[in-house]
Amino acid sequence: MTLRGDARYDAGVSRPLLKNDRVLRALRREPVDVTPIWIMRQAGRYMPEYRALRAEADFLSLCKTPELSTRATLLPIDLLGVDAAIIFSDILIPVQAMGMELVFSESKGPQLPVPIRDRAGIDALKDFDPWTHTAFLPASIQQTVKVLNGRVPLLGFAGAPYTLATYMIEGETSKNFYGIKRLAYQAPELLHRLLERLTRMVGEYLVAQIEAGADAVQLFDTWAGALAPADYDAFCAPYTAKIVETVKKTGAPIILYVNGCATLLESMAGTGVDAISVDWRVDLAEAKARVGDRVALQGNLDPCVLYAPPEVIRRHTRRILEIYQREPGHVFNLGHGILPDVSVESARTLVQAVHDMSGASRS
Ligand code: CP3
Repeated sequence: MTLRGDARYDAGVSRPLLKNDRVLRALRREPVDVTPIWIMRQAGRYMPEYRALRAEADFLSLCKTPELSTRATLLPIDLLGVDAAIIFSDILIPVQAMGMELVFSESKGPQLPVPIRDRAGIDALKDFDPWTHTAFLPASIQQTVKVLNGRVPLLGFAGAPYTLATYMIEGETSKNFYGIKRLAYQAPELLHRLLERLTRMVGEYLVAQIEAGADAVQLFDTWAGALAPADYDAFCAPYTAKIVETVKKTGAPIILYVNGCATLLESMAGTGVDAISVDWRVDLAEAKARVGDRVALQGNLDPCVLYAPPEVIRRHTRRILEIYQREPGHVFNLGHGILPDVSVESARTLVQAVHDMSGASRS
């Protein structure tokens, strides 16, 4: 048994002792008994128990009701045996708190009916205090930490400024991101103005989650992979570095995810994050060679592998586990969120395979 985290970020919260701190150890590139695993979107529609919760409440109400959000957060801990919980919420919650209208459509996902079009739209955004205006989130975190009682660490998260800006400008998930890129090339000073506002907000939002009890945080820059590397360095890396600087003061580890990170790994590592969450398009061995011992890596199974029969899931899992073997610094995960139509049994096969195979290779 180890002490929960690092005394430096024990901001007066009562943190139960962690019985399983593998994820935190791996993020710090310390040795672990078996490779830890958690799954992006691990509480989601692929689970009958999640669909039952959603029959009681719409998605935003789930996010905003601590009792329900805590129940959703715990589902994959109880049903899959993953090594970390991630607080049930969404990256667009703070965008709504900044004053933008947000609806989740069953068929089209998130919709922002009044996207940002100009400087007035940016200047109309409200500064908000996470403890006041999204009080349900620290409340959910506090409640979840209590119920978890040290079983596994709890992750907080936020969208990175660029990815939040794509939604704020495009108004929905975009295929080509022409709206935000048009702004980047026609009026880069406006995009920078928006990114600066979001950087301040995201830093405070993540610190609030850590103060409420989150042990580590993940920054989702999901759509930054659509950028040319030079544009990543202009519109993403400096803002991420700023957020890392803010979060580092708490001592909690920070993970950075970009979907399509193969061309960006060195820049991402240069932001000072503790770990990079790698999608499946790049070989993990190559990613490891390129970032060296600067960061831990998380990933990177193609989510579609979970459509395959158990022996194929195990084969692909082994291939990834063999890259780190006993070397520290690997957290197993999918390369993007788990798909809504895979079976819970497949997810369970994956978690078991990671624990069994990596434990065997260490004994
Ligand atoms: O990982 C987890 O289990 C924690 C919860 C979580 C959700 N969204 C719950 C959710 C996290 C970390 C997110 C992050 C998020 N949200 C991202 C970044 C990661 C990624 O997947 O790329 C993005 C881009 C969003 C925005 C978003 N929210 C989209 C595009 C969608 C629609 C797609 C879909 O699967 O329906 C959502 C909805 C959403 N967020 C659901 C869940 C469980 C499904 C809502 C439902 O119908 O119940």
